[in-house]
Amino acid sequence: MDKYVINGGKPLHGEVEISGAKNAAVAIIPAALLVDGVCRIENLPQISDVEMLLTIVSDLGCKVKYINKSTVEVDARNATYKDAPFELMRKIRASYYLIGSMLGRFGVCKTTMPGGCNFGVRPIDQHVKGMEALGATIDVKSGFVLGDVQGGKLHGARIYLDKVSVGATMNIMIAAVLAQGRTIIENAAREPHIVDLANFLNSMGADVRGAGTDTIKVNGVEKLHGGCYTIIPDQIEAGTYMVAAAATGGEVLIKNIIPKHLECITAKLRETGTIVQQYEDSVLVKGASTLRRANVKTLPYPGFPTDMQPQIGVLLCLANGTSVITEGIYDNRYKYVSELRKMGAEIQVDGRVCVIEGGHRLTGAPVMACDLRAGAAMVIAGLCAAGQTEVEDIHYIERGYENFVGKLRALGADIRIEEFPDDQDGYDKVVCIPV
Ligand code: EPU
Repeated sequence: MDKYVINGGKPLHGEVEISGAKNAAVAIIPAALLVDGVCRIENLPQISDVEMLLTIVSDLGCKVKYINKSTVEVDARNATYKDAPFELMRKIRASYYLIGSMLGRFGVCKTTMPGGCNFGVRPIDQHVKGMEALGATIDVKSGFVLGDVQGGKLHGARIYLDKVSVGATMNIMIAAVLAQGRTIIENAAREPHIVDLANFLNSMGADVRGAGTDTIKVNGVEKLHGGCYTIIPDQIEAGTYMVAAAATGGEVLIKNIIPKHLECITAKLRETGTIVQQYEDSVLVKGASTLRRANVKTLPYPGFPTDMQPQIGVLLCLANGTSVITEGIYDNRYKYVSELRKMGAEIQVDGRVCVIEGGHRLTGAPVMACDLRAGAAMVIAGLCAAGQTEVEDIHYIERGYENFVGKLRALGADIRIEEFPDDQDGYDKVVCIPV
């Protein structure tokens, strides 16, 4: 398996450009299936989840054409119904958006349960509830999701989500744009990528209002037309470089971002003593000589994102004093802790709470990327640690970070990829020791 080899101890310095948002891109590509025309998507991140979704929609009959490395045209006019390609669908979480887009486009779907990072049970009951409210019959059995709409067309409905869910909010929006009548989603998630999906859909002729608040209204339209849309910058990629700069005691200008999306991360970094200067579309992060402890609770947006929890966990290992992290979204997002302990971190986990006794220098060790953000956290730990760290199972990291190694090397990091010729994608293979 390919791995990253990192010689730690070098502060990061310089500038880094942030790519398009993964969690917006992975919804926008399936949503393009609804568009009756050519849909040009700009600022697509070059990551494996995006490649996989483009393969899935092209398997469904969409013409996919790369204009340049971050711009793609998707033409869904000749798409016809067929079962979604199961092997690919199983590998990624965002394949669940095909449920909404296939029901909206064809009135029928057969897909697998989604894959993705394993943070404990990740049900899709709120997606199912939404699709059923819109008039679909959904049957989830033996790992498959079968959906059918009598008469072929969904109808608007009022849906109150029992849980704030990013995926369910976006999936219902996708399904509702071509439905007959008005859909109201209450207790909706408010993440930046939800607004981005709404903006994408509206730029193709949809009528979606209120995205970014907890009530989203979708007035169904007859059809969507082609157009051009530019995806927003990735909040979590930006946050990851912010923490990497802070943890290594470096100074990094993080460019092509929306500072507003990073406010909770900025506020938390400032609590640790890190200096963060905000500009119009960039932030400058300067590491503190001594880091202070902080407590973190992950919450839906605008709270601190769960997708930054492992990365901030590494920073807090270096900060003086005891820090407490409370995971507010997932049951099991601490698998990276057993890996960090191999590097000398002192961390105790009790359910959704983890207590970090900080102030110790980490030492390099062979570790695994247990999932996407855990993997990014291991890289940050390796950049700070004394000696050499080898991070295995890097395919997880490559699902969500464009050119991670290249960007870090440009900031002065001593990191390289060691390639093994017989590598397979390995999406489902990693077993981390539970804590
Ligand atoms: N949940 C349910 N039922 C549902 C849906 C969700 O109980 O039908 C629960 C989940 O188990 C979880 C909580 O609700 O406890 C929130 O889940 P949500 O639906 O918001 O998460 P998701 O849509 O599966 C997306 C991102 C994740 C990110 C979460 C939270 C994508 C493809 N994935 O997942 O991103 O952690 O929102 O912000 O957009 C990542 O990028 O590393 C990543 C894991």
